[in-house]
Amino acid sequence: LPTLIAALVFGYLLGSIPFGLLLTRAAGLGDVRKIGSGNIGATNVLRTGNKKLAALTLLLDALKGTAAVLVAGLYGPEHALVAGLGAFLGHLFPVWLGFKGGKGVATYLGVLVAVAWQGALVFAVAWLAIAFITRYSSLAALVAAVAVPVALYLLGFVQAGQLFVLMSLIVFVKHRANIGRLLTGTESRIGAKG
Ligand code: G3P
Repeated sequence: LPTLIAALVFGYLLGSIPFGLLLTRAAGLGDVRKIGSGNIGATNVLRTGNKKLAALTLLLDALKGTAAVLVAGLYGPEHALVAGLGAFLGHLFPVWLGFKGGKGVATYLGVLVAVAWQGALVFAVAWLAIAFITRYSSLAALVAAVAVPVALYLLGFVQAGQLFVLMSLIVFVKHRANIGRLLTGTESRIGAKG
């Protein structure tokens, strides 16, 4: 049990690094929390107009989840899952930002890559298809968050499936403002600023 708690804390600390905020600040773009949706994730970094920085935010926010799972995985599969959950929660509730973090989509994907890459493929196909058709990043994430746990169960990843049911539920809760905007037709599309 002590090593499981250590894995959770390790994952949390990695996950709590707010790359979107750090990168935009370092690039002199100001505080990303003051523009667009106010989120610290890649979708909102894109609203600064800097595509490279948005891609880097996506990559690093995903990699911190992947790294947490792979390192903790040296202690066994349960440690891997717990560290992945820790990284996801760290991104959502970083102590450094008064527990006001991101929505977790990139980190969710990064954890998934390391836990069950087949699930990450399902995520990528679902996300890209919905984003291509609708240009809504949030809707693409929500559809992917439904598809992934279903796919994990169908593929026989039962324990991982349980973890991703929980993480998907949290993704939905974190997107409640986006869901409201989607329902009223006021959600901003990928490529649109603000
Ligand atoms: O990953 C977050 C995305 O689904 C929505 O981001 O900035 O439009 O709220 P945002």
